[in-house]
Amino acid sequence: MGKIVVLDDLSINQIAAGEVIERPANVVKELVENSVDAGADKITIEVKKGGKTFIKITDNGKGIEKEDMPLSLERHATSKIKSVEDLENTYTMGFRGEALASIASISNFTMISRTENEELGVKIVAEGGDIVFAEEVPANVGTTIIVENIFFNTPVRYKFLKNDGTEFRYIKEWIEKFAMSHLDVSVKLINDTKTVFTSNGRGNIYDMVYLLYGKDVKENIIKVDYEQEDIKITGVIGTSLIARDTRKDQIVFLNKRNIKNSVLTASSDQAFKGGGTGIGKHGFFILNLDMPASFYDINVHPTKMEVRFKDENKVFKVFYNAIKNAMLTKEFLGNTEVEEKKQAYVEKEYNFMTNHFIKPTSIVPSNKIDTGKSIIEREEKRKVDYKYIGILFRTYIVIEVNGEIYLIDQHAAHERLLYEQIRENYKNNLQNNTQMTLLSEVINLTHKEYEFVKENIELFKKAGFDLEDFGDNSIKINGIPDIEYREKTTARNLFMDTLDEMLTNERSQGKDIEERFIATVACKAAVKANMDLTKQEVDKLIDNLLVLKNPYTCPHGRPTTIKFDKEKFSLEDI
Ligand SMILES: Nc1ncnc2c1ncn2[C@@H]1O[C@H](COP(=O)(O)OP(=O)(O)O)[C@@H](O)[C@H]1O
Ligand SMILES: [Mg+2]
Repeated sequence: MGKIVVLDDLSINQIAAGEVIERPANVVKELVENSVDAGADKITIEVKKGGKTFIKITDNGKGIEKEDMPLSLERHATSKIKSVEDLENTYTMGFRGEALASIASISNFTMISRTENEELGVKIVAEGGDIVFAEEVPANVGTTIIVENIFFNTPVRYKFLKNDGTEFRYIKEWIEKFAMSHLDVSVKLINDTKTVFTSNGRGNIYDMVYLLYGKDVKENIIKVDYEQEDIKITGVIGTSLIARDTRKDQIVFLNKRNIKNSVLTASSDQAFKGGGTGIGKHGFFILNLDMPASFYDINVHPTKMEVRFKDENKVFKVFYNAIKNAMLTKEFLGNTEVEEKKQAYVEKEYNFMTNHFIKPTSIVPSNKIDTGKSIIEREEKRKVDYKYIGILFRTYIVIEVNGEIYLIDQHAAHERLLYEQIRENYKNNLQNNTQMTLLSEVINLTHKEYEFVKENIELFKKAGFDLEDFGDNSIKINGIPDIEYREKTTARNLFMDTLDEMLTNERSQGKDIEERFIATVACKAAVKANMDLTKQEVDKLIDNLLVLKNPYTCPHGRPTTIKFDKEKFSLEDI
């Protein structure tokens, strides 16, 4: 007798369930997505024991027709596509017609649903996939599904579940992400009779950020609303003040589906560079990309969050532009920038960045280097009338603008300015933009230092150092970058401080070395705290800051200015 048998329906469904349904959180995901596909804007999720014994989803969607109720539990039963050709234009969350069949095959399953055309709803109960009960019942329009005793008939799977608390955490994390991407859906999550999460469904991203991250984060986000080449990007990014040590809070949705994608990660890293985060830190963002389904392939596997964009360069660029633009729309000393100028600047930055800071890889277009204009465009100066008050703690310049007080961190501000100047040298490859020192100086280095300088001599030169290999572990300095030093920094000090810093923080070397090098030179050349500046020097610093497109933070992400509203000075509270 042959050994090949055709599997029965229950086995097929249980095997399919193994792919899609690994744990209670997957059940919640499939059911909530079905609710959204049915047009619901109010969804309640109630679970017990981390979802192991009880999951109940109630929605106010359009409901299921009476005769479709039993059919919806059949494998490959879907109302969402008619054939494979429809897939390119599918925006619904589900389309495989697998979820309900899979879930019903491994649980005790109850479904109650009513459409607005019916007086009564229908309730069906299934055990391990077999319908054991079907009857008309009074019900609200919408659908309620109860999934009990998940994996009761597949004990091996049950054994793989973690403890109740962990399983609940998976559910809660998924629900929170869902709520972020569905601001117009009001979601309520109940755990063992306690409500643990409620979103209001009013469509306000600030409410959502406040709910999930609290006040500090809410006060440090910038709204993103950007559209280019049929890609629309909305959501928020964080300022450098809430940059993170990990990528946990870099959340992306593609047509509201949570995804991970390395092109987007690389793009955002570039956009945040130069002060959007500290060096080695990661920008905060919650962003949704809206684009035609024909722009990407998704769903290699039903539970995976991976996608492949068909035109990676385009997506890289639009995502970069969206973040960079938002970063530069912040108000600075009471003044905001004109839109088109900013756009042109971002465009230029992008070209520079793709030519200099990213090693050629498949995702980066190799345009011609833009050597045309400089980044620092003095004619585009912002106009700000400020009143100089003084300097606090020999560190913060205090000015008044339009009835508001600004503290300018003198070191951070100067550092930003020098960073832009050195970067401009670098960008335009102005190797000769060097200030010759009066006397060239030969410096003896340790072997390690010497090797580093030799290996990276191009970095030094492009930033404006004029160096010669003098042999025998020594280097001759003929000149240093021609930037706006406050006073004669000795060439030796600038060179050694920069070298020191580069060697102590060697770990992030590699792809970020140019960026880090420029920031380091700027930092070492900038005025320090506790240096007394004259009124003229302050005026010049502010003047120079006002011509920068990005005056907001130093290259390490520290803000250059802090604003105090008048109300903060109110004496009434005291
Ligand atoms: N909450 C719901 N509201 C209305 N219809 C639903 C709901 N859940 C499921 N359905 C119906 O059941 C069908 C099967 O659902 P499912 O197995 O998840 O497959 P898919 O979502 O891939 O179509 C859906 O196509 C839909 O017609
Ligand atoms: Mg579905």
